[in-house]
Amino acid sequence: MAARAAILTVDSNTRLYGVIGDPVSHSLSPVMHNAAFRQSGYNGVYVAFHVTDLPGAVAGIRILNIRGCSVTIPHKVAIMDLLDHVDSMARQIGAVNTIVNEDGRLSGFNSDSPGAMAALLEKTPVARRRVAVIGAGGAARALAHGVVTHGGRLTIVNRSEDKGCQLATELESDFCPLADFSGGGFDILINTTSVGMTPKTDQMPVSHACLRPAMTVMDIVYNPLETRLIRAARDAGCTVVDGVAMFVHQGAIQFERWTGKKAPVQLMKKMILDALRQKQ
Ligand code: ATR
Repeated sequence: MAARAAILTVDSNTRLYGVIGDPVSHSLSPVMHNAAFRQSGYNGVYVAFHVTDLPGAVAGIRILNIRGCSVTIPHKVAIMDLLDHVDSMARQIGAVNTIVNEDGRLSGFNSDSPGAMAALLEKTPVARRRVAVIGAGGAARALAHGVVTHGGRLTIVNRSEDKGCQLATELESDFCPLADFSGGGFDILINTTSVGMTPKTDQMPVSHACLRPAMTVMDIVYNPLETRLIRAARDAGCTVVDGVAMFVHQGAIQFERWTGKKAPVQLMKKMILDALRQKQ
């Protein structure tokens, strides 16, 4: 008990971390990272910062020596110009979701892409598999980049043709309009759109007919815990990867960058599941 109490003490050596976003009060990151810090005996605290003035926030990170931040909507792109360094993967994706402060030098990384791949690779290999990524926004960019990096044969499937074609061309992959998508020949299907998210939980981005038993179906939406797409895919006999798996893995990658310690992934997952169940 004494050791646990010591770990929970906030003192003058406590390192501060946080998430910057707008809105941010719904964020599950504080609950996940604080539990991970405690479990690992790391003297850190993680809080949520509601940020509308991004340059001001970055100045604050430097001046107050905040050791690291998660970056969420709508700041993932604009933050890139305010940092001292952006790693090559984040530059290619075009978004930063992780800041590391090393002696005043702020570096930007993207843990969404490797986090999503870690979640997917738990269930299926990606190399040489035919992968349909639905959507062409910021989340699609991170996922699609990960698929290509792991040797998957990528097709971007999107409602609007111009945006979808642009991303497909950039990644030297195929494009299929969402209206024409049948699912035929695909091994993996990944939803990166917000379709199915609370409150519109009765929606799914593709029809039931697109789902085949041999497919792995991943949804990045984690609210509700089981989206209509995940339920339909499970019913169709597909292997499923839910949004919580990706969220936890991207957080675990952040934790390891900040602390140099191995992330307690199972605990982080439990904290997120408990928090989501309480909300439902
Ligand atoms: P994010 O950066 O979070 O990925 P975004 O940039 O707004 O969000 O991208 C959302 C993606 O989801 C887009 O590709 C969008 O399709 P369009 O390019 O046609 O706008 C897709 N999307 C959003 N709502 C959708 C819906 N109801 N049906 C199909 N696609 C949808």
